Parts: sequence; structure tokens; C-alpha cells
Amino acid sequence: MGIYFEEEKKIFKLDTENTSYLIGVTEEGYVGHIYYGKRLSAAGGGYLLRTGEYPFTPSVLKREKGAFLDTFPMEYSTGGVGDYRESCLDVKNFMGQTGCEFFYRSHEIVEGKPVLKGLPASFGESGEVETLFIYCEDPVLDLWVTLSYSVFFREDVITRNVKLENKGTSRMFLEKVYSACLDMDNRDFEMVSLHGSWVRERHIQRCALSYGRQNMSSVRGESSHQEHPFLALVTPETTQEQGEVYGMHFVYSGNFIAQAELNQFDQVRAVMGINPSQFSWLLAPRAVFQAPETVLVYSDEGFGKMSRCLHDFYRNHMIRSPYVLKKRPILINNWEATYFDFNTEKLLDIAREAKKSGIEMLVMDDGWFGKRNNDNCSLGDWVVNEEKLTTGLKDLVDQVNEIGLEFGIWFEPEMISPDSDLYRKHPEWAFRILGREITQSREQYVLDLSRQEAVNYAYESVAKILRSANIAYVKWDMNRQLCDIGTVMYPCDRQGELLHRYVLGVYQLQERLVQEFPNLLLENCSGGGARFDPGMLYYSPQIWCSDDTDAIERLRIQEGTAFLYPLSCIGAHVSDCPNHTVHRVTPFSTRGNVALAGTFGYELDITKISEEDRKQIPEQVKQYHKYSHLIQNGDYYRIASWSEKKPYDCWAVVSKDKKEVLVTCVQVLARPNMHSYCIRLKGLDQGQQYCLEETGEKFYGDELMQCGILVSGLEGDFQSKLYYFKSCLEG
Ligand code: GLA
Repeated sequence: MGIYFEEEKKIFKLDTENTSYLIGVTEEGYVGHIYYGKRLSAAGGGYLLRTGEYPFTPSVLKREKGAFLDTFPMEYSTGGVGDYRESCLDVKNFMGQTGCEFFYRSHEIVEGKPVLKGLPASFGESGEVETLFIYCEDPVLDLWVTLSYSVFFREDVITRNVKLENKGTSRMFLEKVYSACLDMDNRDFEMVSLHGSWVRERHIQRCALSYGRQNMSSVRGESSHQEHPFLALVTPETTQEQGEVYGMHFVYSGNFIAQAELNQFDQVRAVMGINPSQFSWLLAPRAVFQAPETVLVYSDEGFGKMSRCLHDFYRNHMIRSPYVLKKRPILINNWEATYFDFNTEKLLDIAREAKKSGIEMLVMDDGWFGKRNNDNCSLGDWVVNEEKLTTGLKDLVDQVNEIGLEFGIWFEPEMISPDSDLYRKHPEWAFRILGREITQSREQYVLDLSRQEAVNYAYESVAKILRSANIAYVKWDMNRQLCDIGTVMYPCDRQGELLHRYVLGVYQLQERLVQEFPNLLLENCSGGGARFDPGMLYYSPQIWCSDDTDAIERLRIQEGTAFLYPLSCIGAHVSDCPNHTVHRVTPFSTRGNVALAGTFGYELDITKISEEDRKQIPEQVKQYHKYSHLIQNGDYYRIASWSEKKPYDCWAVVSKDKKEVLVTCVQVLARPNMHSYCIRLKGLDQGQQYCLEETGEKFYGDELMQCGILVSGLEGDFQSKLYYFKSCLEG
């Protein structure tokens, strides 16, 4: 299928439908990167390794090693022996000396893709994906390095990961283990990344790549609100439709680094992996370390194609939940409705009113356990607060079910409040540095998930509640970033393992949850969208995108999120106005139209909103039922972007068979004397005739794409409109 080895040239050729990736092996066994880009017909390009060129000495086997290592395009760079660019692997031997260098020994090509033990990773059947293992050895350290490449043919994606095995008799320390490296000649690349803050996640940023190292990273213990485990190198002319894009996305939920470096020879090295800051891992004799996976995607048709490749890839090969292709229930969450101030009666009132409008699930958010009436206590005490839920949880769930709604619940299992029975009993279960007061954030500490008993406790707390009532959905929250990383569980030379062990603990918890409750709808969340990453998608088909529910702020947040992720996983709700974060007032219809480009639900007190707003809910619910299949499974096209200084924002979703199109247009600021604007659609079948449902007008696909549609009738700021076109042949 997609992977070939040209024995004579010693070149591996990895092909997806539209891309090729070439790896070459030198006579000494260095594994070099030849090419990544548009699909090639044959395994050529070996000269790009430049093994005979200045500054190398011409004699192949007596290279001037320093110059060689500092310029050779490496598939996976190592530190300490002469490559001064960013290393992907730094190893300290038993003497404390850093240096590593490995050589090709053999390889294997297999159908399908094996799982990565303890880590989230993409999956696929034989026929969908093929995997290459390149086995290499550092004979001095007796360290074996396996470079893995999985080729997802249809989605134009190649995933990489790295496994290390100590086959020697002495211990060593891994000081840095990245997951992927991409060496290329510079083509005036620009770097595209996502940055943000709490309530302002994943805004797109683009800047020229300059000499030196530029990176996005997190040392916060999670993938973070601030920077995203993604980078793209793009040629300068790149837009939504044109230009070359090399995307790298990390399947990991903890500290990361995503870095591009431009060096003295105009070579670029892009790397991605676990952030080496505070990282060190003891690799004992016979031990194995598995690094997380990186997703590589190449598009020569701009960002739009990259987004669609990733959307398909995540839907088909990362999200395991049975919900991935299923319609999600329309939920109403009580957080912005009541905050901590609720009880059984209040929740039932919301449920009754919600039912009348066609809402399908009630989610009880924070505040139902311990004595939690504000955010300063009780995390860890996962026992129902019967002062609030007077007849108990099961009875509440049964009553909600009787009303005709499913029931969902909120947890924050990774945390421990200083004011909790759990902390009083097990103060040693919080991460702490000996002698230092633990830093509080939202008045909470972090559970030391490197301790198996803390993992077991957290798991049982959640599972016990889920076993006790008919609970269909869990919102798994995580509301602070990590610091004070220390534990008495590990000796001093292993404290550097804790941040990664914490992430492994989170993965273990969620794996157990999805195994025991396979039909549970799990939504991850972290103070809004601080742990929105491909790793979490392996466990949950949807992630709460941001605590900012303002429809206008959401335009940029959802644009940046949909840059990489399918709309079906973007948690989006209609909330009340003035908005609780930015105090902006927007029309109820616009809030609905923006939330429709996500999982769709409500986050307001339906018993208190105006009659005028409430009356719109059944209409919005109908709209969701009508379009959800499109939004969930269709192809996403970004048409205009408010973040690029347009007065409006516009996107469309086209069904895979190109017979249906839903266009959403939001006018952010009204412009004087501007009565209409023309929007050119994308991705349609040009010869097909489409009917605009609202008016019955007919248009040809090429007409809609070349002439466009005229958007008019939007009067005032924050107004929006949906246009639904259907192939006229469909009747
Ligand atoms: C986080 C979440 C919110 C809400 C609160 C509850 O901030 O993002 O949606 O669940 O926690 O404390």
C-alpha cells in the first residue's frame, strides 16, 4: 500500500494519496530526511542528503564528523555529539555524561498500527494504515531506538512516535525525548501557531520564521490555554486555498514544545515533543520508554485542505467513542444558570422547562458534592451533598429521566481542596515540594497521580457515582495548572518523571472510565479549553472549548479550534446576556447560530430568560436536528474571517457527497451604507444545481463558487444568518 523500501538506494518511500515522505540511510547507518511534500512517482531525491558536499569532507566513510552532524538532515536528532541544532534525544549515561548517537540496524513494515501502551494514539485497520518501524542502535549506550511511522493513506496524514529500550546493563537518564523532527531547506517559511489565555483560547498567529529558535510550549502540566501543541510551517503565499502547509500536532495533554529553528545554512528543523523542562526519566536496564505520538500533515492547497485532512483523521482515527458519528443530545448545563446555588427543585424546574423546548439532557455542574457552595472546598469528597440534593442523586436522576431528559454530571477528579476530608486524611496525596507551602490556585491543590492509590481513589469516586444512577454524560474538568511538583513516592533522581507520570495517570483514569462505561458520553474540560488536544480526543468525542460563551468572542476561538479539530468535538452552548465574561449583548439567534458550529447546547437559566428568547429555543432545536449530520460529518470550509479584519465571519459545511451546504454568516460590525456583501462558496460540485431552501432560488455550483451569494438584510451589529442549499436533484 503506502510504504516501500528501495533496497539499492536505501530509501524508504511513504505515500499517502497526495503526499510522499522519503527517508534515506547513509552507509554508516545515519537515518536522514530526504523529502516531505507533494506525492512523487518514485523513490528519488537521495542527493538531498548532500553526503558528499561541503562542509563535509568528500571521503564518505571518513567524514569530518562535526561538520557532518551539524548539517545532515536528520530524521531524529541526538544531542551531545556534534549536531548543535535542537536535539530530539538527550541521554545521560551512568557517569552523568550526555551524548547519544544511533545507527540503522533493520526495519519492518506492518499492516495496521499497534497501540501505544498507556498513551492515546491514532488507530486504523489494515487497508487504512501501514506502519514502518526503523530499528536503530546506539552501540555505546546499548540503547535501541525505534522510529515508527504510520501512513494514513486517505487522510494524507503520517503519524510518528519513538520508543527507547535500554538493552544494556547500566542505567541511564533520558533528559529529553521528543516525538518528531522535520528537517528541510527553508522556503521563506512562516510559522503558524495558536495562542491564547483563559476565555480567549486558540487564536491563530502567523509570523515570519527568523534565524534561531522559535517555539510554542507549555510548562503548566497540561497542554494549556496559552499555547497549543501545534505548529505549521507555510510558504508565504499560503491562504485557505493555496500554498504549502506542513502541520505538526502533538497527541499529548501535558508539557510540550513545538519549535522551529532556522540555522546558518538556511535549513529548518521543526521538532515536537514533551517539554524537557523539569523532565528526566530513569531508563533502567531492560526498561522501555514510549514517547507520545505526533501527527504530520502536508497540504499543497492551503490551510483549508489541512483542516479537512485533520478533521477526517481525528474523526476516523483518533476518537474512539461510539458518539463519534452519533448525534449528541442537546444538553442544558446549569453552570452559568445557577453557579453553586441550586438544589433538587431548582434542577427539576430547569429540566421541566427545558423539556418543553425539546432539550434532551440536563447536566448538573460543579457544586453537588461535599459542602461545596463556592470554589474553596470539597474537591476530593465525591459524596452527594444531601442538603442540596435532598432526595439523593438517584432520585434526582430518576425524576429527570421521568421528565424525559437524560442526566449528566460534573467531576474534577484530579484535584484536592485543602479544605476537604480527603486532604485531612491524606495530605501526602497532594503534589508538594518538601518545606514549601503549596501554591494554591482556585484554592485547590493537585492530586499526585504518580501514586497508584490516588489514581484508584479518584477512579472509584467517579465510578461509584456513575454506578449509582442512570448517568449518561460526564463533564471531566481540570481547573488549575500544575506547580510544586514533588512527591515522596520517588527518589531524588526520579522527581523529573512526575509531570509525565501525572499525564499517564490522567490517561489511565480516563481509559478505565471508557472501558467500564463504554456508552458514556464524556466531555473533557479544563477551565474552559486548557486541555483541548488530540490526546483527550482519544477518550472523549467532545471537549469544552472555552469558558467564554459570548458569540462574538467565540468566532475567533472556534475558528482557531476548527483550524485543527472537527466541529463535532467543539463544545459550544447558547448562554445568557449580558454575557458573563465580556458583558456583551448579542441576539439570541446569533448565539444559536454560533453554537450550532459545535456540539450545541444551552448554558442559561431557562426558567428566567425572556419569553422572547425562550420562544426561539424550539426553533433552534429543530435547526440542530436538521443540520447536525452535516456539522458532525461534513467538510468544513472557512470563507471569511473576522479575525482577519473582515467586518463579518463566514464558514460553511458541505456534505461529503456535496449535495448539501450550510453557510453561516455573522456580521460583527455593521458598516454604514453597505447593504450587501458577496461571499464566494467553496467545495461544491460545479455542475450541480443547488436550491436555496429559504427562497427556492436555484444556483449552479460554479455560480455559487465564482459569482458567490449576496448576503443582505443583516441590520445592526452581531446579526447572523444561515443559508442552506440542497442539490435540486434531491427534491
Ligand atoms: C470550569 C469549567 C466551567 C465550570 C466550572 C465549574 O471553569 O470550564 O464550565 O464547569 O469549572 O467550577
